[in-house]
Amino acid sequence: MASPSPLPDDLDLSPEALIAARPQLKRHAMDGLLLDGVPLNAIADELGTPVWVYSANTMRTRLARLTAALAGLNCHIHYAVKANDHLATLRLMHQGGAGADVVSGGELQRARAAGIPASHIVFSGVGKTADEIRLALACGIFQLNVESAEELATISAIASGMGRTANIVLRINPDVDAGTHAKITTGRADNKFGVPYAEAASLYAHAATLPGISPQGLALHIGSQILSMAPYRAAFARAGELIRALRAAGHSVTRMDCGGGIGIGYADPVEASPEAFAGAIRHAFGHMDLQLMTEPGRWLVGPAGLLLASVVLTKADGRFTVLDAAMNDLVRPAMYDAFHAIVPVGPNNQTALHPTDLVGPVCETGDTFAKSRPMPRLADGARVAILDAGAYGAVMSSTYNARALAPIAWVDGGRFTTIRARKPIESLWADEIMPDLPA
Ligand code: LLP
Repeated sequence: MASPSPLPDDLDLSPEALIAARPQLKRHAMDGLLLDGVPLNAIADELGTPVWVYSANTMRTRLARLTAALAGLNCHIHYAVKANDHLATLRLMHQGGAGADVVSGGELQRARAAGIPASHIVFSGVGKTADEIRLALACGIFQLNVESAEELATISAIASGMGRTANIVLRINPDVDAGTHAKITTGRADNKFGVPYAEAASLYAHAATLPGISPQGLALHIGSQILSMAPYRAAFARAGELIRALRAAGHSVTRMDCGGGIGIGYADPVEASPEAFAGAIRHAFGHMDLQLMTEPGRWLVGPAGLLLASVVLTKADGRFTVLDAAMNDLVRPAMYDAFHAIVPVGPNNQTALHPTDLVGPVCETGDTFAKSRPMPRLADGARVAILDAGAYGAVMSSTYNARALAPIAWVDGGRFTTIRARKPIESLWADEIMPDLPA
């Protein structure tokens, strides 16, 4: 599948329009850009740049809105830890009533370290190792989302060996195109995820005969950054049909995990509505007496984060603006051609805008955050904020080009605290062991 359609020509990408569309941001005449009232300049002065900044209030507000949209549906939110896995974020989600969706033993342990009990955690993923399955069962995980017949056999052997019963749901691959970027679509038959729809009923029946396995229901997740409800409706309808068939054949089906994927407005302020998402769930499953679940990541945290960077220099008469943040910090533009709004942090005393390519210093042409973006002239040392970077931002960072991971600031209640400090550069090689090299 091709990438999503390009941005409409008439979209206003001027910094002030991008700020106006985001309620957590305000421009102060003296202090410059504020996140929930806190000057981003104060954070950069203390922590340096590049630095990630998260708005706790934005995460809380969004979790509350999604929770309200799902009210009356018997639907639990399991926050997709992969989107933003910092302990502070996980604790906030837990306090707001969400459990966790994890995809590795590491995420499982992180979620528990943040205080999320195993009884509120579901474990997805195509390649859970025997050690990860053992860990999950030993801590009493709520549910394993099984993605293949092979994995089902492994879980059965491990669970019965441990004298435990694994509560599983089968993740079906409904073969529905989510209309999102090819690299983040997961529900088509040629994607690696889930059990082929046509094989799901017989595998469910088989699961019911296996020792150590208690089949509870189905799961699906068709992709990420989904802006239209049509693919959800199509996938949910297929799952509903399968549940009815399984029940008619005498199987117990008590759970349906509807996955995540709800999209946000990166360029266009229009985002997918949680109320519409809840409506699609209600329409498909509301009357089926099911324990429902959803696993959103991006929608809850994406708009809550930004990456603060400084201009190192501009070159070619302003055609290129080189920042001190790079693709090792935020890889989404390089990896998915993703759009991120970028706005200057200083007071707005310039109205003339000029197109510029905002790039990082890494030695790759793909290290480009934006092309031909209208920006005021930026002096060396001026700061910019790369917006909507709260999901799949810091979690996907690397240390490529021997660049240390950026620190993280947490804005809450009108002040900020550091939730991850900048590490000394020597920490990058501190755990390396020099072999004996012949002289
Ligand atoms: N559940 C499962 C089984 C998943 O694989 C995912 C995401 C989610 C839930 C959460 O999806 P969300 O609500 O966040 O869309 N790195 C890419 C996105 C990868 C998504 C992977 N799976 C990006 O930066 O766009």
